[in-house]
Amino acid sequence: MERSLHYNYKVVRQFAVATVVWGVIGMAAGVFIAAQLAWPALNFDIAWLSYGRLRPLHTNAVIFAFGICGLFATSYYVVQRTCQVRLFSDRLAAFTFWGWQAVLVAAAVTLPMGLTRGKEYAELEWPIAILITVVWIAYAVVFFGTIVKRKVQHIYVANWFFGAYIIAVAVLHVVNGAVIPVSAFKSYPVYAGVQDAMIQWWYGHNAVGFILTAGYLGMVYYFIPKQAQRPVYSYRLSIVHFWALIFTYMWAGPHHLHYTALPDWTQSLGMVFSLILLAPSWGGMINGVMTLSGAWHKLRSDPILKFLIVSLSFYGMATFEGPMMSIKTINSLSHYTDWTVAHVHAGALGWVGFITMGSIYYLVPRLAGKKQMASLVLVETHFWVATIGIVLYIASMWIAGVMQGLMWRAVNADGTLTYTFAESVKATYPYYVIRFTGGLLYLSGMALMAFNTWKTLAGTVTVDPPVAQPRKHRASDEAGAAASHVPSHA
Ligand code: HEM
Ligand code: HEM
Repeated sequence: MERSLHYNYKVVRQFAVATVVWGVIGMAAGVFIAAQLAWPALNFDIAWLSYGRLRPLHTNAVIFAFGICGLFATSYYVVQRTCQVRLFSDRLAAFTFWGWQAVLVAAAVTLPMGLTRGKEYAELEWPIAILITVVWIAYAVVFFGTIVKRKVQHIYVANWFFGAYIIAVAVLHVVNGAVIPVSAFKSYPVYAGVQDAMIQWWYGHNAVGFILTAGYLGMVYYFIPKQAQRPVYSYRLSIVHFWALIFTYMWAGPHHLHYTALPDWTQSLGMVFSLILLAPSWGGMINGVMTLSGAWHKLRSDPILKFLIVSLSFYGMATFEGPMMSIKTINSLSHYTDWTVAHVHAGALGWVGFITMGSIYYLVPRLAGKKQMASLVLVETHFWVATIGIVLYIASMWIAGVMQGLMWRAVNADGTLTYTFAESVKATYPYYVIRFTGGLLYLSGMALMAFNTWKTLAGTVTVDPPVAQPRKHRASDEAGAAASHVPSHA
């Protein structure tokens, strides 16, 4: 077969399977650390199993393994289908797969050993960070190379989101990763004091903005129209909220550093930009949900669409809550409490988790050359088990968080504290048990997905389908053409 006339589905399949496998691992680590918070004896007095070492293992496994493998799979699929060409280079694409798995395995080994830079979401020591940079450059070459050789003149909006995520992550990683190595596994940042903190949270917040948001909006703009078989509600809105979102996110980082040594005006600036961020975030949410106009009935019978649409409601929820938490007076209550953890997981489980699961459920049968997943009943069961899990997780952490904040600030008439810290920990115990139960349910759903994916893919070989015939671009109808272009042709 003439390769260039066929899409490269092999690498998409590899990343899709990796997403599911790492999802199970990362969420199992989450459930384990949730259990440790309720029953600390589960540390077993073994350094490798201690909470401080496994917590970053969890965050790295869910964000960089489950999350980014999902973004690799979907971005490689979407860029080929919407540009109507094969990936720019098969070899480089294969390198990104194996290189990224090497990064993840290195993380899974070094983090439990306690080798860390100590910066949240940027824990991996400099040799691994260099490997990340190399793989990421290869990713950018494959993705943008494919865009350059596209046969469709228009660059579909999903690719704008994927492209912004790829560029932003490169910049964030390199700037926050500037260190002076002192040994093979130890380095110190080139920044010091509050500048170091500001760089770290500029990085941290934009990791939310560009990995946990922009990349997944790329999925929204392709998989929701495809699964609902409706054109994007407003193509114009998609472009407007794209530019507004990427401009605004960059300034919001200081809301992670309220009431610190960071200059006060910087904190207020971060707060104001966080409040503004509500608008472009909701622009995306509304655009995605309204794409279902005229097809709402499909939600009743299509469990994959349920994942995709419910993910947007969690996105709306998290992006309403975030701006509220960035208001300094509210942050003085929420910061350091489990409220933050509730907010994180409303976004992580509801938004990031569900949009990824919905998109992978869309992809897997297509990669296996089948009409649908081996069992749609299992997809439906997954949806409900996971939804109940999320509700238990976030409701318990909201209550725990507000309770902690109120207990810590309660003072008696004589000015002494009403509660000791230990009393607030004791009061939190039942909520930690409920969160653990919710996490266990969410993990069980992921296990069902792994089983279903294996049943669907087992015994199949991925055949690269032929590249679609390019359509003529009509300048007069650019938005309409692109919007309807995706559901019907790509
Ligand atoms: C308009 C959008 C959003 C705004 C303005 C926002 C704002 C905030 C604020 C104020 C905090 C608490 C900072 C602190 O007290 O330490 C926070 C924490 C966090 N948010 Fe959001 N958020 C938004 C959306 C999201 C979404 C969609 C996710 C996706 C998962 C997310 C993930 C996180 C994470 C991971 C943290 C914890 C960071 C840490 O301390 O480790 N946020 N966010
Ligand atoms: C079975 C599902 C999950 C469980 C039980 C779980 C549990 C936990 C626990 C116990 C923590 C530590 C909280 C603390 O230090 O007080 C945590 C932190 C975190 N998890 Fe999860 N998690 C799950 C899934 C996920 C997923 C799918 C993502 C991302 C896509 C995610 C992202 C994070 C992040 C970013 C943090 C750090 C939050 C912060 O610093 O405020 N988790 N998780």
